[in-house]
Amino acid sequence: MDICDLLGIEYPIFQGGMAHVAKAPLVAAVSEAGGLGIIGGAGMKPEELREEIRKVKRLTSKPFGVNLMLLMGYIEDQIKVVIEEGVPVVTTGAGSPAPFLKELKEHGVKVFPLVGSASLAVRMERMGVDGVVVEGKESGGHIGHVSTLPLLTATLQKIKKVPVIVAGGIGVPEAAQAMKVLGAAGIQMGTRFVASEEAPVSDTYREIVLKANERSTVEVGYRFRHGMRLYKNALARKLLDAEMKGDEKLFEQLARGTLRRAVEDGDPDGGMYMIGQSAGSIWDIKPVAEIIKDFAKVLK
Ligand SMILES: Cc1cc2nc3c(=O)[nH]c(=O)nc-3n(C[C@H](O)[C@H](O)[C@H](O)COP(=O)(O)O)c2cc1C
Repeated sequence: MDICDLLGIEYPIFQGGMAHVAKAPLVAAVSEAGGLGIIGGAGMKPEELREEIRKVKRLTSKPFGVNLMLLMGYIEDQIKVVIEEGVPVVTTGAGSPAPFLKELKEHGVKVFPLVGSASLAVRMERMGVDGVVVEGKESGGHIGHVSTLPLLTATLQKIKKVPVIVAGGIGVPEAAQAMKVLGAAGIQMGTRFVASEEAPVSDTYREIVLKANERSTVEVGYRFRHGMRLYKNALARKLLDAEMKGDEKLFEQLARGTLRRAVEDGDPDGGMYMIGQSAGSIWDIKPVAEIIKDFAKVLK
């Protein structure tokens, strides 16, 4: 089944759930423009999540989703909120959705886990998910080990029953078009939407996406089992240093609260700016509706 028919959206464009960034103004703008806006639920207390969901509902009557990081606190209660509020789609990261899948599906919630390998995608398909989002390591935020192109092509050789959405490194419509040619059912973007008028981020954050080229990010944290792609600023260098020394405690200490410092305060040196390599092809801040229109043209 076509992904747009499955989800009741106009264009096969997901706005990736982004902790602290993917909040109601951005999510609703994406859904209103015909894509799938997704609330970044990671780290939100259940009642905060409920409030954010209700804000989105006040701004749009179109379908939207919630991203849940499964190994984080409050997960059972977040799932309860998602079901009670009638959220139609959930994307999941950091762990398997197995313990929650039956309940979510019984309540009509479509489940799309994020995966970083073809073998995990196969396991998810067998488990009965509605689709998978393969996310390559070009992405901003938490990352796996495989780049988008080999990840997508390997997955498409093995997954035949459910739609495969692809994320990581897509900053321009031509890249989305290439993904479609390869066989992706849709695309997910994060960094492109950070550089939108509606993203509730500091001006510094947006400027960093514009200023960054394709070599301006670094991978940190692999050694401590949570790889991330960040803009290479003073904080990222300190994190790399702590990683080189193998000092996990210091790494965690340095990282704590710093995404908020980037998103809300715009601290250029001390904030953690999660951006992807696609920043190297993004040179303007646009309203979400224009971004969706540009990408929709090549995805029809
Ligand atoms: C600031 C930021 C925060 C993110 N937070 C999350 C998150 O909480 N959960 C998640 O599954 N993915 C997260 N991601 C990944 C995005 O949802 C998306 O898959 C990724 O950005 C796609 O790659 P791109 O940045 O090259 O477009 C984040 C990405 C960014 C840029």
